[in-house]
Amino acid sequence: MRDAANLKREHFHVKAPVNLFEFEDVARGKLRAEAYEYYAGGANDGITLRENRNAYERLRLRYRVLRDVSLRDCSTTVLGQRIAFPVMVAPTAFHKMACGAGECATARAAGRAGTIMVMSTLSNTLIEDVAAAATGPLWFQLYIYKDRGATLDLIRRAEAAGFQALVLTVDAQVWGRREADVRNGFKLPDGLTVVNLAEHAKAAFPDGVSGSGLAAYVAKMLDPSLTWDDLEWLRAQTKLPVLVKGIVRGDDAALAIKHGAAGVVVSNHGGRQLDTAPATIEVLPGVVDAVAGKAPVFVDGGVRRGTDVIKAVALGATAVMVGRPILWGLAADGEEGALAVLEMLAAEFDLAMALCGARSVSEIRGDLVDSALAR
Ligand code: FNR
Ligand code: LAC
Repeated sequence: MRDAANLKREHFHVKAPVNLFEFEDVARGKLRAEAYEYYAGGANDGITLRENRNAYERLRLRYRVLRDVSLRDCSTTVLGQRIAFPVMVAPTAFHKMACGAGECATARAAGRAGTIMVMSTLSNTLIEDVAAAATGPLWFQLYIYKDRGATLDLIRRAEAAGFQALVLTVDAQVWGRREADVRNGFKLPDGLTVVNLAEHAKAAFPDGVSGSGLAAYVAKMLDPSLTWDDLEWLRAQTKLPVLVKGIVRGDDAALAIKHGAAGVVVSNHGGRQLDTAPATIEVLPGVVDAVAGKAPVFVDGGVRRGTDVIKAVALGATAVMVGRPILWGLAADGEEGALAVLEMLAAEFDLAMALCGARSVSEIRGDLVDSALAR
């Protein structure tokens, strides 16, 4: 007779997630509500947040047959770096809210999955510690502070720690209105800070804020006066390639390239900035056309399936970046959870390639996508 405990465990055993959506379900059950709502939230009514996802679901894949897909190579190259599949880890803040090892867990998972992690300025872990933990290449996402000295310090430390590129985020110098954070009076849990800014006395959110503590921090610290001249300034401060993240227009992408960007990330910040901004997959082709092969184009926002990755590559992306799924993996099971998310997406991408009749990333062409978007 099986005892009640065994019966209970078997009967209520939580099945392992079989897709990235189910990782979110697990994370929602494990995270403090305020942390989950910060991670999951979008700006205002969440229209762009939903459209990032819905736009992928509206696209259809016109697969090809009888092309011997017995052998497939999912790898690709970004800025001279080989990665196992065209998926990278987007910069997201505050990983220690998801698991104790925080950004170190993410860096190890990304390296074990054979891809690149873009580490956020707003991390809970020191640049040097993430670099020491990393098992693969790292890029550093930069917010430009009003205090240029603090900004330069971040750049110097990222260079010294071996980061291989800078990603300048340009769509969030003024903060989107994340209503869950306003309602929750979002602040970091005790013991967690914007640790890489500590020596510039910029590690803590302002005190006595009724709404979003992060919004108050950004308003106090980040420079809303940025122009394209500041991209030139940044390029003059470093030998690292500088990519620009947060572009949704072809003319802005062309300006980014004109001002020396080494690449462009088509992004609306996961729907967290300007609500009713377009879905990224829908504006990707226009940006790809404007960049005209002069630099790699990346895209993020709503990527949850291997078929999404195929669609993005077919529409001209060099690779995609995923944000929230990594956080769900961290919350579910730390480094192993983040690795499982990446490996699951990689397996889905491999399957999608096979079913599309593509044996390599170079065989994923625009005519696979059946929509007005396809060129
Ligand atoms: C972000 N994003 C972000 N972007 C950035 O440039 N610097 C950052 O620090 C952060 N922080 C951050 C935190 C959280 C919780 C989220 C959800 C997002 C945006 C991120 O890089 C990316 O653009 C989106 O997350 C991509 O959309 P998905 O994959 O989350 O749907
Ligand atoms: C966000 C930041 C940290 O979207 O970029 O929360």
